[in-house]
Order: sequence, then structure tokens, then C-alpha cells
Amino acid sequence: MSEVVDEGLPQVQPGTLSSRLPGFHRRTVDERWRELALRGDVSPEELQVLRALGAPTFDVVNQMIENAVGVFALPLGLGLNLTVNGRDHLVPMAVEEPSVVAAVSFAAKVVREAGGFTADADASMMIGQVQLTRYGTPEVARSRLLAGREHLLALANSFHPALERRGGGARDVQVRILPAPEGPQGEPLFIVHLLVDTKEAMGANLINTMAEGVAPLIEQLTGGRVFVRILSNLADQRLARASCRIPLAALADFGLPGEDIAEGILQASRFAEADPYRAATHNKGVMNGIDAVAIATGQDWRAIEAGAHAYACRGGRYGPLSRWTLEQGHLVGRIELPLALGMVGGPIKVHPGAQLGLKLLRVTNVRELAMVFAAVGLAQNFAAVRALGSVGIQKGHMALHARCVAVTAGARGVDVEKVALLLVERGSVKVDTAREILASFQEVPAP
Ligand code: MEV
Repeated sequence: MSEVVDEGLPQVQPGTLSSRLPGFHRRTVDERWRELALRGDVSPEELQVLRALGAPTFDVVNQMIENAVGVFALPLGLGLNLTVNGRDHLVPMAVEEPSVVAAVSFAAKVVREAGGFTADADASMMIGQVQLTRYGTPEVARSRLLAGREHLLALANSFHPALERRGGGARDVQVRILPAPEGPQGEPLFIVHLLVDTKEAMGANLINTMAEGVAPLIEQLTGGRVFVRILSNLADQRLARASCRIPLAALADFGLPGEDIAEGILQASRFAEADPYRAATHNKGVMNGIDAVAIATGQDWRAIEAGAHAYACRGGRYGPLSRWTLEQGHLVGRIELPLALGMVGGPIKVHPGAQLGLKLLRVTNVRELAMVFAAVGLAQNFAAVRALGSVGIQKGHMALHARCVAVTAGARGVDVEKVALLLVERGSVKVDTAREILASFQEVPAP
């Protein structure tokens, strides 16, 4: 830790667990790294990983996918102030959209002052699906199959003895008989669900191995023919929930009383409840936060997205993943969604950034990880609906977007902030305007 000096930084106790890092956004990136190292969030070796993240070695990515020709980097920021079930978490977020990190940090600060988020998560129960066809009479096939339940579970577990040793494994076999889709009448669909507790793993690979592995026995038991064998991303046996409770007075802002801000949030919630067009955008806001932390911790964010949106549609109509109500003088927010996450396996093993992301989050197991994700989603949604129901989001967005526009126009270093400010002042956050402003800097020599 020899190169870590505390000059110019607030006094920080090594090992401090707080997610409050006042003034973090005003520091240079070197100062931010030093602060993390001083707090003990990253070791000297991890600091090197963090510094090198902008240019991960090609060897790493070449192990991850086929035909690799380069690395596509995303900004990595830290969401601050988050407290979930009384524990603080720094939230690594990989995201290209300005204002996502600021919004989650802001929302988490408001909620923290109101006691923080409360969250819980189910066990890691995943579903593997096997599609059986040409099975004859559905009810006969069902009873033959279920008579072989113990045999099927034992066979599934034989493919992953290590999972069983860790207390997980195949737990149940269920049958769903679904009406044939419209068109020339065929047999009803006969879908076997294999329920597997994947413990600390997301579980895609092991579920797929088990689903493929039990297929011949399913055919043997029923006399049918199996086609598709794959996990389901609608991981509705693996839900996470978070909630928060904010006194109305704590919501006052923009010169508006807390009651007004709360009403805006409640109206936004009603809107999302009633209208799938709005619910899609509402949920996009939720996923802004969840995807960012998913990417930064090496999760399969497409699986999370697929699960979240399918769950949002579970009643047959697309709805919001989070809801806001008024309860005894408090604004109460609740979110529930499937979160199939992993702390082991997949890219987590190979990608040093994913390992570091998990370390920064300071979670001890995958259920706690899911609780943090759910809280991040709710925080992100709070920030969005709070702005949407009051002053609108463009003001805040534009200030941050202006910095990107300034960079696109060629501004560098201190000019970025200067150009961004002028763009906002002129009310024209456009690349052409930024170019004009930059050109005007060159025309007028500094005194
Ligand atoms: C923008 O990325 C996300 C929002 O549209 C979410 C929402 O409308 O709730 C602001």
C-alpha cells in the first residue's frame, strides 16, 4: 500500500464499512482510487486491477468468447450511500448512461436517512424445462413420469455431485400440460419442470446439463420423445424483494413540500399500474440500476432482463416491478422480481473486474447479492419517479448529457465542464453548438 497517500482526503478509517463517501464525485480519479485503498475496499493488487480495467488483457477476453478482436469498455462508477438490512454496500455500476450512478446514490441517501432498505430473497431455486412430445394420453404420461420422480431426481443429481455436497441439487419434478398453440390442432404441450437449488451459482450450465441428462429417462418412463431441454429465465422461484419507507417531510425538494413530491410519485405509480406503455419505461428505469450492477459483477444481465420482463407480465398483462403507496404519513416503495445471480462460475472466475465488483459490494452470499440488486432497482426507480412527478428529468439529464456532447465535439480536460455549462445555459445541448463554443475559446486568447 506504499503508493497510497492520504493527502487531501478526509480522514478515513481502514476497513470502514460505510457506503457514505461525501464529496467522492468532486475528486479526481486518482483521489477516488486512494480513498478506496485507504478504506480497505481494494487491496494494492486490486487497485492495479481497477487501474487496468480500461484495458483488460486481450488474453482474458479471448478466453471468454469466440472470434475476439478487442475489448469494448464501459464506464465503471460507484453508487454510494446504499444501506440494505442495516449493512452498507458500495455499488459498482458499469453503464454508459449519464445520471444513473448519481440517481442511485441520491435515492440511496434519502432512503438511508429514513432507515435504509429492507430486503429479502428466496433460495436459489431454478427451473429446467424439458419438452415431451408423442406421449399419448397426457394424464397417463403424467402419472408414469411422476412415478419415476425419485429416480429422475437421483439421475439429475448424479450429474452434479459437488452441488449436492454444497447442500443444493435437484429438488422436485413437476408437469405442466399446456393447450396447443393456435393453428392445426396438435397434442397439448407436455412440459416437465426440474426444480434445482443452485446455491451460490446462477446455475444455467448445471441446469442445462441436468435437463439434457434426464431427458432419456423421461422418454423411457413415458414412451414419448423429448425435444427442447433448457433452463427457464422466468426464475419465479427465485424472487428478491426490497422496500423502503420515507417520511413525507424528507421528500421536500425543488421548493415543493414533501406531500407534493409524494403525490407525483404516487401518480407515476398509478400510471405504470394502469398502462403497459408506461410500465415498460418505469421498468426500464428499474433495470438501469440492476443491469449496471449486474454487468459490473459479471452476471448474465440478459437472463435477468428476460426474467424481470416476463415476471412483469405474470398476470397476463404487463405491469410495473415496483409500486409506491402512502402508508401512515410515509411514502412506501416495494419491488419484487426474479434475480438469478451467481457468486461463483461463469465470467466471475475469469474476469478480474467482476471479482473486484463483487468484492466492492461486500456481500457474503448470493441471496444477499439479490437483495442489494433489488434495493438498487428500487432506488433507481425512486429517483426517476420523483423527478418525473415533479420537475421532470430533462434538467438533470441535460447537465450530464452536455458533458458527453462536449466530448463528442472535441472538448478535453477542463474544457469539458466549461462547454457543458455553456450548452445548458444556452438551452441547446447539441454537438454543433458545442463546436461553436469550443471554436470561440480558441478565438479569445486567455488573459
Ligand atoms: C431513463 O433511462 C429511465 C426513465 O425513463 C425511467 C422512467 O421513466 O421511470 C427516466
